[in-house]
Amino acid sequence: MASDSSGSASHTTSSSSSPSLTRLRGIANHMALASVTSFPVEAVPQAPEDPLFGLMRAYKADESPNKVDLGIGAYRDDNAKPWVLPVVKKADEILRNDPDLNHEYLPIAGLASFTSKAGELLLGTGSAAAAEKRVSSVQTISGTGAVHLGALFLAKFYKVNGANRTVYLSSPTWANHNQIFTNVGLPIATYPYFDKETKGLAFEGMKKALADAPERSIILLHACAHNPTGVDPTAEQWREIAEVIKAKKHFPFFDCAYQGFASGDLDRDAGAIRYFIEQGFELVIAQSFAKNFGLYGERAGCFHFVAAPSADAASITTRVASQLAILQRSEISNPPIYGAKIASTVLNDKALFAEWQENLRTMSGRIITMRTALRAKLEELRTPGQWNHITEQIGMFSFTGLSEAQVAKLRSEFHVYMTKNGRISMAGLNTRNVEYFAKAVDSVVREAL
Ligand SMILES: Cc1ncc(COP(=O)(O)O)c(C=O)c1O
Repeated sequence: MASDSSGSASHTTSSSSSPSLTRLRGIANHMALASVTSFPVEAVPQAPEDPLFGLMRAYKADESPNKVDLGIGAYRDDNAKPWVLPVVKKADEILRNDPDLNHEYLPIAGLASFTSKAGELLLGTGSAAAAEKRVSSVQTISGTGAVHLGALFLAKFYKVNGANRTVYLSSPTWANHNQIFTNVGLPIATYPYFDKETKGLAFEGMKKALADAPERSIILLHACAHNPTGVDPTAEQWREIAEVIKAKKHFPFFDCAYQGFASGDLDRDAGAIRYFIEQGFELVIAQSFAKNFGLYGERAGCFHFVAAPSADAASITTRVASQLAILQRSEISNPPIYGAKIASTVLNDKALFAEWQENLRTMSGRIITMRTALRAKLEELRTPGQWNHITEQIGMFSFTGLSEAQVAKLRSEFHVYMTKNGRISMAGLNTRNVEYFAKAVDSVVREAL
């Protein structure tokens, strides 16, 4: 008997086709295959591609000159190009000409000149929490890393009777929230957020769900420019939300990815967070500088813990900071330096800070102009339906109300790329394509009638 290259028995006689031998070969092959990996398909099934990054890939491959990218949440200028903020260019220049610039490790908690100003941006200058040393800040891998660090901290340290608490996410929410909290073992549930009829806030449903949630649940709140809906509570609604959260002793977790990018006003976009802190909540905040500085790939962000006012507040904060440092060390050791240095250069210089605010107004202003233009076009075309929500929603995204089938048609017939839930990134619209997009929407809406 000779041996074939796979090491299984081979015969030269007609018995090679006998059923028993075929079975034996099957078993041998299976054993050989099983032994080459510890990760068979039952243990590691093929995961679906991230929908957003899949969309980006499909858009890039599309050769149509009319193609429109309304998928990814990154700012584009009126020429559909990424925009390096002029103030970021200046800070970059300053850094590159600094003879002391080096690539050393940052401390575990990050660049102090960056994290302290990042906290001030959220809490406001002269915040009592900062003065009373009730704030602990850690530089993270942008907003995603901040949400993750917060999730990890809560999974490890926030327990009632030894058990983790459920995290309540808005329905819908940024898809990554589900994965991040699930990955650290925290149970997740949802509260209503978007009213399909009004295309606004499902305020009563939201309040009821928060009131019905078990005491001391974790409530994830988008500080401003809710992703994916573009719907934010009004100041009065925030007050009522805070009341319910306080009554149920819930723990607020703010995700702030769009400060200054939503309204163009840094203070206004931090209004909800500041209100909660004034109300004496103990809370955490995940902060991203991806959108408002255009530092997407530099991964500049911060995680902040704010203690409630009390005689022990400073020592609570010190203890929390010490544990955050341990978690950070095991996760990323220390955060990336360059984006933080750019942001710090701007945040610590009066003139550059003023220029940054101007840049923020340019971005948010262009988006607001596109909202007005899109709504006007749709109304001019008498596209069936109401389109007021386009201008009433705020920030990077708009939840159009288009169905999955209409989204698919927009892609196949008009080369328009957007997520299948009907969300569009307003930054993908510009003076050249807004009319084309409105006409495409008009066409698919009429076809569906
Ligand atoms: C709600 C929300 N949170 C967090 C992030 C995190 O973004 P990054 O990790 O790029 O800062 C995003 C980005 O799209 C977001 O929309």
